[in-house]
Amino acid sequence: MKKTFLLSLFLVFSLIVSACSSGGSSDEASSEGGSSEGGGDTSAPLDIFSWWTGAGEEDGLKALLALFEEKHPDIPIENAAVAGGAGTNAKAVLASRMQGDDPPATFQVHGGAELNEGWVAAGKMEPLNDFYQEEGLSDKFPQDLIDMVSKDGNIYSVPVNIHRGNVLWYNKKLLDENGLQAPTTFDEFFEVADALKAKGITPLALGDKEPWTATHLYETVLLGVLGTEDYGKLWTGELSFDDPKVTKAAEIFKKMLSYVNEDHASRNWQDATQLVANGEAAMNVMGDWAKGYLVNDLKQAVNEDFGYVPTPGTDGQFMVITDTFGLPTGVENPEGVKQFLSVLASVEGQDAFNPLKGSIPARIDADVEKYDQYGKDTIEDFKEATLAPSLAHGSAASEGFLTKVNQNVNIFVTQQDVGQFTDSLVAAAAELK
Ligand code: GAL
Repeated sequence: MKKTFLLSLFLVFSLIVSACSSGGSSDEASSEGGSSEGGGDTSAPLDIFSWWTGAGEEDGLKALLALFEEKHPDIPIENAAVAGGAGTNAKAVLASRMQGDDPPATFQVHGGAELNEGWVAAGKMEPLNDFYQEEGLSDKFPQDLIDMVSKDGNIYSVPVNIHRGNVLWYNKKLLDENGLQAPTTFDEFFEVADALKAKGITPLALGDKEPWTATHLYETVLLGVLGTEDYGKLWTGELSFDDPKVTKAAEIFKKMLSYVNEDHASRNWQDATQLVANGEAAMNVMGDWAKGYLVNDLKQAVNEDFGYVPTPGTDGQFMVITDTFGLPTGVENPEGVKQFLSVLASVEGQDAFNPLKGSIPARIDADVEKYDQYGKDTIEDFKEATLAPSLAHGSAASEGFLTKVNQNVNIFVTQQDVGQFTDSLVAAAAELK
């Protein structure tokens, strides 16, 4: 009896709380509401949620926020970023806010599974089809990108950028001094690595204090061994994780790990990038946010201090990572959010953000001259390349699967048991839809 009473009390309380916290704005948001028609509180501050804090991460965001403030001094914004690469901590904070019906005004979310199988499937995002129409955005992004932010014919977010995941960065002087060329195949990688090791130079920098960086390295090896088509089949269940090609990738990954810095487990991605900049290690595999960090924070010059090539075996392939922002259901100020999305979607917004972030613009009509040689090359590569969604950054598969892969990769880095790793991936694949 007492239990039933308490339960009813709890349910009533929850209903009241959720009614209050949504402020009744959920319906107004779904009606793509204008504030004049009663669409929420147009003076309510916008908390912009991301994981872009600190060196190499926040410069682009700050430029975008400054641009917004300049254009909309009447709409207060708050930078609600939570530190931790690849959303290590932010994703958990976001999940608890969303579960508690307390969504941020807008939040960073990767196009692909993270958006569509995560927040859209849970009914937590508003469709933005009308917004795209009104803003004339429908033909301003590559169709592949629109597909990554769409589900069942509706568009759910706006891409601010395109990051490339499969990049091998190298210290140019170290390679030149040793008469070495940047490797483009796995065989070349191991030849270069052996030559460097023989000279007492750490061949490959890794910082897997946050385990996603090892998953990041692993997925580039998967792509290099499997190619875009077979890599894509992993996420649909058409190719099993105990396929010999996948095992071969694990063997190569294991061998690569024998060339990394000893203190890899105590470093984050920025610390690993620093090793290459300082000449303490020769190469590093990381997404091109590392370029933003190298140039803007470490003051390294593109093609003078450091160079870049696609990771071994991935020439002509593009591991695509797109950071996007949408309109969560039930926010206080949906009109304000749309104003923010409008600035973020504009050529001006994208060209303020991306040259600092290291990424290329998502828009097809951005000003190429605002980008350095790396950016220009990457804009061209993107047009020609076959695209592969990143697993480590949430696009390829569900968050549940990614969490398990991160755990298993972390164990593999220490134990290096290919058989056990393969079994764990096969078991984790049950999480794939
Ligand atoms: C990725 C994100 C990038 C960058 C990186 C490191 O997931 O898409 O924008 O921030 O993590 O934190």
